[in-house]
Amino acid sequence: MSSEGSGRRQGVFISIEGPDGAGKTTQAHMLKERLENQGYKVFLTREPGGTPIGEEIRNILLNPRFEEMSVACEILLYSAARSQLVKDVLRPYLERGYMVITDRYLDSSLVYQGLAGGEELEMIKNINLWATAGLLPDITFLLDIDAVKGLQRLEGKETSFSQQDRMEQKELEFHRKVQEGFLLLASQEIKRFVVIKGEDEPREVHDQLWSQFQNFLLNKENAS
Ligand code: TYD
Repeated sequence: MSSEGSGRRQGVFISIEGPDGAGKTTQAHMLKERLENQGYKVFLTREPGGTPIGEEIRNILLNPRFEEMSVACEILLYSAARSQLVKDVLRPYLERGYMVITDRYLDSSLVYQGLAGGEELEMIKNINLWATAGLLPDITFLLDIDAVKGLQRLEGKETSFSQQDRMEQKELEFHRKVQEGFLLLASQEIKRFVVIKGEDEPREVHDQLWSQFQNFLLNKENAS
């Protein structure tokens, strides 16, 4: 995917992706804390959401009452929330030199609505490149976890089926496609993606992620 529209950025844009139950949120917080301990300015946000408008859109998207929601509607709502996040949060923080971490970004739409949801990938890419003015992560960590294990983890959090959000309630087959879809994207963009096994203990996953991030920073320094 080609990147970057207008605007100067000095910060580093990091996204964390993966199937449901992969442990993204835990890893995003651990990364933030470690970076802050090293003296970096860090901003952490999540999708869908991250702005007042985005959080309202999130409530619609994840509401189990809206079973009838079409995939096209999902694409437009996720990208609408993302567009606001880019404008109000991501770009301003990047321009101020922050390390910006997002718990999910547009790869989630390509996978959940495209590769698993069945909508045309090129269309989703184009809508999202427009919505984000071409802002792509500098590095994307994919926490890979077997679909069954990911769902078991969610169950471990004692969420009964009725308490799960609308996306989590989808069939196992869908979640398998999500896992495969992320791996496919990662294989197509090996420069941006770093795949990490999400099944280990959070501390071990974090150590792997951290060491890969150090390599990334080193390469970035050498390139500039
Ligand atoms: P999230 O809050 O990350 O849930 P979890 O922490 O359980 O992974 O994301 C909510 C759901 O929204 C998740 O099932 C993935 C889905 N999603 C999409 O389908 N498309 C998207 O573009 C995004 C950002 C999320």
